[in-house]
Amino acid sequence: MKKSTKLDQIYSSGAYLPRGPRFGDIFKIDIVDIDEKGKGLGYLEVTVGPQKEERKYTFAVRSGVPGDVVEILVTNSNRKKREARIHQLIKASPMRIRPECSHADPFAERSCGGCSLQSIDYDNQRVLKENFLKKMFKNRNLDPSTIQTMQGMASPRYFRNKMEINFGESKEFEIGLGMHPPGYHYEVIDHETCLIGPKPMIEFIEKVRAWAIASNLEVAKREEGTLQAVGLRVGFESIAIELIVSHELETEQVETFTKLVNSLFENPALAITILRAKRGTPTLRKSTHICGPTTWRETIVVRGKSYDFEVTPGAFFQTNSIQTGVLYENILDALDGLAEDAPTSTIWDLYCGTGTISCVLGSYFQNVIGIDIVEASIADAAKNAETNHVTGCEFLCADAHEIFQKENVPDIIVVDPPRAGLSPKVISLICSSTITGIIYVSCNPKTLVRDLQLFQDEQFVIENVQPVDMFPHTFHMENVVRLRRPKPVQKDEPIGAARFI
Ligand SMILES: C[S@@+](CC[C@H](N)C(=O)[O-])C[C@H]1O[C@@H](n2cnc3c(N)ncnc32)[C@H](O)[C@@H]1O
Repeated sequence: MKKSTKLDQIYSSGAYLPRGPRFGDIFKIDIVDIDEKGKGLGYLEVTVGPQKEERKYTFAVRSGVPGDVVEILVTNSNRKKREARIHQLIKASPMRIRPECSHADPFAERSCGGCSLQSIDYDNQRVLKENFLKKMFKNRNLDPSTIQTMQGMASPRYFRNKMEINFGESKEFEIGLGMHPPGYHYEVIDHETCLIGPKPMIEFIEKVRAWAIASNLEVAKREEGTLQAVGLRVGFESIAIELIVSHELETEQVETFTKLVNSLFENPALAITILRAKRGTPTLRKSTHICGPTTWRETIVVRGKSYDFEVTPGAFFQTNSIQTGVLYENILDALDGLAEDAPTSTIWDLYCGTGTISCVLGSYFQNVIGIDIVEASIADAAKNAETNHVTGCEFLCADAHEIFQKENVPDIIVVDPPRAGLSPKVISLICSSTITGIIYVSCNPKTLVRDLQLFQDEQFVIENVQPVDMFPHTFHMENVVRLRRPKPVQKDEPIGAARFI
């Protein structure tokens, strides 16, 4: 008979371990740091096996807070990524608080993965994120003293204007509707609360779930079933709902869903989208407008001025409207910081999305050119400039690098790329042009520091970094960076700038 390999006790650092950590083992460790996903990091330094090898194992612990002493239960002992959850809290970190949302319970077997930092008080959440950014700066030879204190929310609750809620398997209901716990593709949380979603979200979930159960539809799983997700966007005075399914619904199912959303909200914009993603074939996404307005509207306040925006389904829009105003004020402040040296009337907004930054810049600059690769976003951007009576904005639908061939290069540009950061081609074009000032808006510190290092190597100076907390209770953060390089630039390669052509 095979001998049981279960460990005979709870080991901690300094011990002799008969074998390496495995799924289900329990160890006692100190949480000393935090990783890029907001999980607590702790180490187990032990002597292992018959060879008595010295080993240091790293564990990423869900809801672990630096300063905690915990017993952890190993949930994934993959060599690259050892993961665990808290089995028992022996000593709580001074930063630790009881999460407001029951689905963020640190001890639950499964918790909603939405808010990885809810066990940490809000002031310390921001300090930890700032320190993480500083560490990333140091690792890239960038000056961490340029990083300012993170600007947070006065009331970090119910701030998301958009949630995509998944249909799935539930513990309690025939059909579940909620967030997937981390690592689960089909199971969903049966939400009773949500700290970050828009206020009507919980009632919306209850009603849509009841509709789904009554509709005789099945949850999409692999190639079977229909119901995938439902998107809810809640604006200042506007609601948009997008039901995402694998197959066309029957007329009666569309009618009952339409009736339901109209009973919950006043004049909601409703679209039903058929989404089919199959490995090896292009993804099919076909949206049909069902009722209400065809766009979702939202208002952003920047330096006391309100800007109104319309967003079509599928176009990018920041998910925290209040902090978007703060973010854009920081872009203007950063531009003020550059203006003395480089007074300019023309500015580019690269990766402009629905033209939100362009419209704000349009209040301060004569000519603003926005560029984005998504056609629907560019159409929204043109409409948004009109709605906001901004006359000097022009928009181009193209890949960001193409603007260098099409337009005269200004002295200053704003860039707000997706999480992947700037492409090497765009960086090379900027560096070989006469651009002297960049405002870099980033939602991903990892690609931000990579790109900043490249700019620093090309004589750009990082003058100021302003972190803005767009995503409280999560480890995400947004940064506005001001970069400047001395004029003039003497370069003979490569010919990217229109001025040299
Ligand atoms: C982080 S969003 C910024 C949107 C906008 N600045 C805002 O604040 O709402 C990034 C945008 O980059 C666009 N994008 C992605 N790749 C692109 C490319 N290669 N060229 C131009 N735009 C691109 C996306 O469509 C998206 O709208």
